[in-house]
Amino acid sequence: MIPPDDHGARLAAAAEAVARRMDTKPLIGVVLGSGLGAVADSLEDPTTIPYSEIPGWPTSTVAGHAGQLVVGRIGTVSAAVMQGRVHLYEGYAPWQVVFPTRVLSLLGCRSLVLTNAAGAVNQAYRPADLMLINDHLNLQGSNPCTGANLEHLGERFFDMTEPYDRRYRELALAAAARRGLTLHEGVYAGLLGPSFETPAEIRMLSGFGADAVGMSTVPEAIAAGHAGMRVAGISCITNMAAGLSEAPLNHEEVMEVGAQVRDSVVGLLQDLLATIAEENLNDAS
Ligand code: HPA
Repeated sequence: MIPPDDHGARLAAAAEAVARRMDTKPLIGVVLGSGLGAVADSLEDPTTIPYSEIPGWPTSTVAGHAGQLVVGRIGTVSAAVMQGRVHLYEGYAPWQVVFPTRVLSLLGCRSLVLTNAAGAVNQAYRPADLMLINDHLNLQGSNPCTGANLEHLGERFFDMTEPYDRRYRELALAAAARRGLTLHEGVYAGLLGPSFETPAEIRMLSGFGADAVGMSTVPEAIAAGHAGMRVAGISCITNMAAGLSEAPLNHEEVMEVGAQVRDSVVGLLQDLLATIAEENLNDAS
């Protein structure tokens, strides 16, 4: 569970390997969940780097998660888009799950956009709805920042009062409104998985204030918070959580509904990325 002593050196080596293959420094990192890989298609001048060619970068074992990093431009701003991520339930240690997040930070990304597939805990939500994450519950039983602190990334103890950037939430809601898309706003509960939840667990999560449940995103948002990155998170609601509908849950359903909403999410993300890129440019100037 605890990172190896040469953790910092491994991150630096991975960042160097990626930097060598890029012309410009990315300012925005994006993590695409199951079935959302098409977002990377809108990047201009893309360079694709398979995860297997980046030293130390973990590779996914799950269907629907391609394993490559696409670096390219959105307008004049460079972005690094991850097509696929790894999860704790695959057996990876927390520090490995956030290895890519930290490499993106070292490469210069000051913004991180996280996407995922999630089950609805909030009974007003429906499959194929989208939810903007405004906070999370870490119920994964681990934290990616345990072990020796990486001082060059962030402080040992860090604030998580606003894990999902307020301004980015405004930009996402405005982008959704322009596209006529309904974008709920709610709390994402991150659980370990790989089993889906029981109905009793969903009732518990509802009592805890969760609106959606999934098995990713929380470690990355924590590592990004540690490194001072500004985070946006969007969940594709692929199913009602356990016990909220008659149907048993399965991964195929998650993938199918994910595919149905792909076009609207891709459009929304493109708009959001463009506005974040614009703001980053203004911040940098
Ligand atoms: N639970 C956990 N993770 C998920 C779900 C769910 O219902 N749907 C998609 N990912």
